[in-house]
Order: sequence, then C-alpha cells, then structure tokens
Amino acid sequence: APGSPAVRPPLGWNSWNTFGCDINETKIRAAADAMVSSGMKAAGYEYVVVDDCWQATTRDAAGNLRSDPVRFPSGMKALGDYIHGRGLKFGIYQAPREKTCAQYFNALGGSTGALGHERQDATIFASWGVDFLKYDWCSPWGTLNEQVAGFTLMRDALRATGRPIVYSINSNSAHTNTGPAYDWGPVADMWRTTEDITDRWSTGCTADCFMGVTEILDVQAPLYSRAGPQHFNDPDMLEVGVRGTFTPTENRAHFSMWAIMAAPLIAGNDITTMPADVRTVLTDPDVLAINQDSLGRQAQRVRDYGDTEVWAKTLSDGSGAVALLNRSNNTATVSTTATEIGMPAASGYQLYDVWTNTSRNTASTISATVPPHGVVMYRVRTGSTTPTTTYSLRGTA
Ligand code: GLA
Repeated sequence: APGSPAVRPPLGWNSWNTFGCDINETKIRAAADAMVSSGMKAAGYEYVVVDDCWQATTRDAAGNLRSDPVRFPSGMKALGDYIHGRGLKFGIYQAPREKTCAQYFNALGGSTGALGHERQDATIFASWGVDFLKYDWCSPWGTLNEQVAGFTLMRDALRATGRPIVYSINSNSAHTNTGPAYDWGPVADMWRTTEDITDRWSTGCTADCFMGVTEILDVQAPLYSRAGPQHFNDPDMLEVGVRGTFTPTENRAHFSMWAIMAAPLIAGNDITTMPADVRTVLTDPDVLAINQDSLGRQAQRVRDYGDTEVWAKTLSDGSGAVALLNRSNNTATVSTTATEIGMPAASGYQLYDVWTNTSRNTASTISATVPPHGVVMYRVRTGSTTPTTTYSLRGTA
C-alpha cells in the first residue's frame, strides 16, 4: 500500500512451515542467530517473523495482548530487542476476528483476535518494536466486504502508530478464496493469493486444501499486473528445505519461480540446521537480484506447453529474466525466443544461467534441457559480452 517500507519484496524467515504452534523464544532467538551465521542476513534477508501461537490465551486486565507465559516468558519486547540486536527486523502474527487460526482450528485455547482491539494491538506492537505484521483472516465465515473493512481498519491502526510496519495479509485462511478475486494493493503491502502451501511439488488439490508448488503457480499466474513496489502478490512462504522433502532440483525450481514472481521470500525451513545445499539455494545472489529488482514486476507465463512453461519479465536495467519450468516427471526440452520474452530486437543475446553461473550466446532461441520438477533460469542481455561478475542484490554489479 502507499507509504509502505516494502519497496522490494520482503525477505525473511517465519516459524510456521517448520514449527507450527511448537514455538518458543529460544527457537526464535536461534533462528535470528542463524539468519546471521548462515549468511542469510548478508544476502539480504531481514525479517524474523513469529507466526501463530505466541499469544497467551487471554488479554490482560487492561485488554492488552501478552505473550504465552511458558513459551515466551521474557515477553515480546525483549524478543524484538534481541532480533534488533542482530541487525534484523521483528515480525509478529495476529488475526482480525475473534480468534487466531490456531485458536479456531488447531485446538489452541483462547480468543485473542484483534476484533474491537485494533488500535490497542497496533499500539502495543509498535511499542514492542514490531516491523512486520502478518494479519490472518481465520474466521470460518465473513464476506469480502467484511474482509476489506477488517484489513483496512488494521492498515489505518498501523499507520496511526507512526512506525513503519510491513503489512502482510491473508484473506484465504478460512478458505474464502477472496485473494485472487480482489486487488488488495491499496490495503496491504503483500497479500496471500492461495490456500496454505505444503512441502509437495503438487497435491492435485485446488480448493479447501493444502496446495503444492504447481497449484500455487496456476493461481498466481494471472495476477501479474497486481504486483509492484509496496504491493506484492504473496504465493505463501517457502518450503525450500522444509523437512528435507524437496530434492535439490525442486528446491531450486520452487525458489526460482517465487523469485521471478517478485514474491516475498520468507524462508520456512529450520535455518539452524539447514544443510549447505539448502543455504546455497536461499542465498543465491543472482536469483535474489531477479527477485529484488526495483520494478517489482511479477513474471508472466508467456508460454504454456502443458507440462512445461516459460515465465519471463523485464528488469530495471533492460535485461530479461526467464524461467524454463518443467512440471513433469520426465526430462524435457523447453524453448522460447528473445522476442517472446520481451527482449528488444538485437543481433544476438547473452544467456547467463543463474544456477550454473555460466554464459552462452544465442541469435534468438532460448532453449534448455530441464530435469523433472526443475527450472533453468537465465538473465538475458542484448549483445554477446560474457559477464565477468555475478549480479549484486540491489542491481547489477
Ligand atoms: C493460516 C495461515 C498460515 C499460518 C496459520 C497459523 O493457516 O495461512 O500461514 O499462519 O494460519 O495458524
């Protein structure tokens, strides 16, 4: 939304995909430490987001939210201070209706949603040093109009605090599926477009269920015009490295597609124990540069062959980014042309493979052999100069 600090897609980590409700301050501090020691902070990751289940089940006598006394005995201000002490930013979770999602659906007791307490909650978040709010519609009922009103109320409450707080919303938790139908750009800085992601390439399920990478791509593809600085489509948090389910090829493919879609990249794995190959994917500078490009564009699916697809976008320096995606279980050749991905006419083009860090030249055809559940991603330039450097996070080195 206008005024948002999120001029680029937010980069961070969130507790939910690995830990669910099983969180405490020790785990969150360890994640903040790992963000630094793993090199993720140096690569550009900023936000450490505590998802659902940090709250006590009741408010205090003054109606203020408080943290669970067993899981977060030091309180959320202390946790925010710890995260800030590592040079990182602090994210928290709340819900607009009576209860949070875990309070409705996961048998967590209590009723501490923000309804009727919006200004009070925004004020206490600001006093704790919160930099990012995930605001999650969990009520099993509600119309689109009620959602717009509820999400707008918290937007205004956050603004009234005077603290820059990234506003991340989810209208889909109760399977109302209003995300794809509505442009949340004036309301929020990022908004979920789909049902919850899970660590599967495909689940075959498109409504009222967990979605895999491919189902999410299909929902997100038509929404490209909605994305831009301060307003990003959110295809949900990353499953890269979560429980070790994905192969290295799948991790690269999932990360490539989220990056080229200008999606917020919120890691969901246990970053305190991640193997080197997972860390390498999450911190790849060329892929992060495509994600963090200042135009904030979401790639368009310019070619759909069925099991294989071509996604592309133009970057702020006039280069292109193209992802050749193979959704199938068999190796496939995926092809496009410089013209089809929006490059200007030229006598030749240079293809820089962001995962192998190698370049080659082409007259026009852009083609690669792509492994099953894989992506080959190129940064494309006119001319034939071989680059001597990789790309830095905030643009071209
Ligand atoms: C919903 C959200 C998830 C997570 C849980 C927490 O399902 O979509 O990302 O925040 O609630 O209960």
